[in-house]
Amino acid sequence: GAQKTELIAKARALLESRNAVLVAHYYVDGDLQDLALATGGIVADSLEMARFGRDHAAQTLVVAGVRFMGESAKILSPEKRVLMPDLDATCSLDLGCPPDDFAAFCDAHPDRQVVVYANTSAAVKARADWMVTSSCALAIVKHLKDSGQKVLWAPDRHLGRYVQQETGADMLLWNGACIVHDEFKGTELELLKAQHPEAMVLVHPESPESVVALADVVGSTSQMLNAVVNGPAREYIVATDNLIMHRMRQLAPGKVLIEAPTAGNAASCKSCAHCPWMAMNGLQGVVDCLEHGHGEIQVEASLGRQAQACITRMLDFVK
Ligand code: 13P
Ligand code: SF4
Repeated sequence: GAQKTELIAKARALLESRNAVLVAHYYVDGDLQDLALATGGIVADSLEMARFGRDHAAQTLVVAGVRFMGESAKILSPEKRVLMPDLDATCSLDLGCPPDDFAAFCDAHPDRQVVVYANTSAAVKARADWMVTSSCALAIVKHLKDSGQKVLWAPDRHLGRYVQQETGADMLLWNGACIVHDEFKGTELELLKAQHPEAMVLVHPESPESVVALADVVGSTSQMLNAVVNGPAREYIVATDNLIMHRMRQLAPGKVLIEAPTAGNAASCKSCAHCPWMAMNGLQGVVDCLEHGHGEIQVEASLGRQAQACITRMLDFVK
């Protein structure tokens, strides 16, 4: 309504007057995604968000996503101001990997290369040799395997198991999970597939093994989006946070998108697959952080320098 139009106008004006750019993930509110794209920002997966924030000239980055995304932006650009609409937006993977326990795990296995998923705290990254995201995990672990290395992996057990299966690398896995993707159900997905035999199945690798096993494409959010845009099928069953469909519909208006089942039966569940922490991002938060400087990400400088090495190693590897 009128209030929303007003907030959008206010956010646009503030982004411009504060020399700020909005960096958004596909799982945030559609209005924020649209605002990012309309103001020279980006809607992207976590790897692209990190790279875009690092390379952009703006001195203020507004990161609409979850905390690790804001922290990665700050770690890569300590001289920039990084704001978030809600600093309490965390991630079950980050919460499930406390830095002290993780350090003890690493200490117990000094012979392994430490590979951590982006969805971790700065302190966990500071202990890692490599950071990876879902879009480059396979390539990086394959590279480590080919150079004779053994891997200690944290925190997502499903992504870890998938990478282990695909690469054959020797991997020791932390036992973490994403509360959103962990809910997708293989048996129900099989039934849904039977009802849509022509549909392509797209799965984010944070999903359980039984779900990944049914996928035509396994990949990061951007890779899933590309599969819908460029795929030969008319119908797509999508196993990830359902807000990604906002961008999928914009870029592939002729395609039919079906939510993968999260529980119970194959009649797809309307709003189950949405991250409660991504949902904390809204237009009001963007306005407030820019107007009042709320939600500024701080990463202690020496910790940030230690954490930067593993992110930079990934970015150099994928370029
Ligand atoms: P992507 O890097 O694929 O965007 O994944 C981030 C995330 O949090 C998925 O739940
Ligand atoms: Fe973390 Fe899962 Fe939310 Fe992604 S969807 S931010 S992995 S809890």
